Amino acid sequence: MLEERIRCKKLRDKIMTADEAAMLFKTGMKVGTSGFTPAGYPKAVPLALGRRAENGDKIEITLMTGASVGDELDGVLSRAGVIKRRYPYQTNNSLRNCINNKEIEYSDMHLSNFPQWVKYGFLGNVDIALIEAIAITEDGGIVPSTSVGNSNVYVEKADKVIVELNTSQPLELEGIHDIYSPANPPFRKPIPIYQTGDRIGLNYIPCNPDKIVGIVVTNIKDADKKLAPIDDVSTKMANNLIGFLDNEVKHNRLPENLLPLQSGVGSVANAVLAGLINSKYKDLTVYSEVLQDSVLDLIDCGKVNMASATSLTLSKDRLDDFYKNIERYRDKIILRPQEISNNPEIIRRLGVIGINTAIEVDLYGNVNSSNIMGSRIMNGIGGSGDFARNSYISIFVTQTTAKDGDISCIVPMVSHCDHTEHDVQIIVTEQGVADLRGLSPKERAKSIIENCASGEYKDMLKDYYNRVLVESKYRHTPHIIGEALSWHKRFSETGTMKILNNKKAI
Ligand code: COA
Repeated sequence: MLEERIRCKKLRDKIMTADEAAMLFKTGMKVGTSGFTPAGYPKAVPLALGRRAENGDKIEITLMTGASVGDELDGVLSRAGVIKRRYPYQTNNSLRNCINNKEIEYSDMHLSNFPQWVKYGFLGNVDIALIEAIAITEDGGIVPSTSVGNSNVYVEKADKVIVELNTSQPLELEGIHDIYSPANPPFRKPIPIYQTGDRIGLNYIPCNPDKIVGIVVTNIKDADKKLAPIDDVSTKMANNLIGFLDNEVKHNRLPENLLPLQSGVGSVANAVLAGLINSKYKDLTVYSEVLQDSVLDLIDCGKVNMASATSLTLSKDRLDDFYKNIERYRDKIILRPQEISNNPEIIRRLGVIGINTAIEVDLYGNVNSSNIMGSRIMNGIGGSGDFARNSYISIFVTQTTAKDGDISCIVPMVSHCDHTEHDVQIIVTEQGVADLRGLSPKERAKSIIENCASGEYKDMLKDYYNRVLVESKYRHTPHIIGEALSWHKRFSETGTMKILNNKKAI
C-alpha cells in the first residue's frame, strides 16, 4: 500500500512519526506549507508541533501558506503561541483573534503576488516546506492533494522538505494537477494558457529527493467547509446577477456561453454561482481560485464543461461524493499553482468575469473586503484583487445589510479600501444592480443609492448625498468627511462588540 504511494525507494526509510518531524522545527524558522482555503493542508505535523509547544518548548515561526488552512494548523499553532508572523491569507477564528489582539503580525497579500515575492527572495529564506501529498514519484516528485496553492514554490525554495502523506486523500486525484512555475524576470516568458482547460505543466511538483528529510503518514481528513444554506436574499442576488449577464449577452458584450467565471470564497459567492443552475446558460467554464460546492453542481447538471482553480473547497458531503465519483470529474477539473490560477496575464487574456464579495461598498464604488470597521481583520484580500483589477468585467456582490439589519453594507465612505473605484464596475445586491462603467463619481453615487441600497439606509444615504452636493466645497468626489466616517460607530454591549453605522445612533 505505502509502496504505491512512496515510489522512490530510497525515500521509504525517511518515514517518521509526526512527533519526530515536529522536532525538526526551530524557533525563528520560516515555514511554507501546502493548503488553500481549508484544503490540502498538513495536519499531523502541526498538531505535533502544537503539542511540543504546549509541553513547554518555546518555538516561534513565520508561517506561510497558499491561503487559509484548517484549525489543525492555523488554530492549534496560534493558540499554542507558535505563529509569530503569518502570510498571505487566513480565515481561522483563533488566528484572527490573535491578529486583532496584536499577538501575531499578519500581512495579507494578493494571492498571485505572494509566490513571486517568495521566488524573488523578498521575504528571505524558506527553511522548511511542509507539504500534504497523495504520493511521491520514482524521482522524488510530490503529488499534491486537494490543493496546489504555493506548494511548488515552497518545495523549490526551501532548504528541507517534509511530506505529509495523507492516505485519506485518494490516489485517483493523481493527474488532476498541472504544475507550472514561471521563471523570474528577465527570463519570464508568456504563460501558454489560451483556454480554461489548457494543460501546460507536470502533474507533480518536481523535488530533489535529497531535500526530503521526513515523510509522515497520516489519514486526517480535510476540514469540513460549512456553507450557509442558500436563502432568499442570496437567490435574489443571484437573479440580479443573471439579469445583468443576460443584458450583456443581449447587447453582444458577452458570448452566449459567457466568458470564464471566477467566483470568490464564502457562502455568498457559492450561492450566487449556484443561481446559474436554473439559468439558460450552458457550455460554461470556470477560471477561479477555489471550486466550491456550486461548481460541482454546475458540472453535474451539464452547465460547466471545464473548471480550473487552485483548490477544491468542498463541504464534507460534497467532498465524499467527489471522491466516490472522481472519474466523472477528472477531465473537467484542473488544479494549478495559485501563481497561475490567479495570474493577471491569464485572467486578462481569457476575459474572466470576476465575481467577488464585499463587506461594504461606498457611494463612489470603493470596496472593503477585509476589515470590519476599518480595523478588525476578517479574512484578507485573498485573490479578489487579482481578479478585480484584471477581469473582463469586475463584479462585486453584497447584501445591503449585515447583522440582522444593524449595519448598512452601502456606506458613504468605506472604512478600509481593498478595491478602489477604478477596479469595480458592477455592484450587485438583493435590491438590484449598479452598472458603474463609464460613470463619473457623482453618477456612480446616484446609481448605487438608487439600485443597491435599501430601506431606511437608502433614505439616509440620499439625505447625506443631497447635503454633500450643497456643503462640499469641491464637487468631483464630494464628501462631508467627518459625517462620512461617523457612520461607523462602535457600541459595546454585554462584552461583545455590537457595531452600528446608523447615523441615528451617533
Ligand atoms: N459589517 C460588519 N460585518 C459584516 C459586514 C459589514 N458590512 N458584512 C458582512 N459582515 C460579516 C457577516 O455578518 C458575517 O459575520 P459572521 O461570520 O459573524 O456571521 C461575515 O462578515 C461573513 O459575511 P457573510 O455575509 O456570511 O459572507 P461570506 O461568507 O460570503 O464572506 C467576505 C464575505 C467578504 C468576508 C468573504 O467573501 C471574504 O473574505 N472575501 C475576501 C477574500 C476574497 O474575496 N477571496 C476570493 C477571491 S477568489
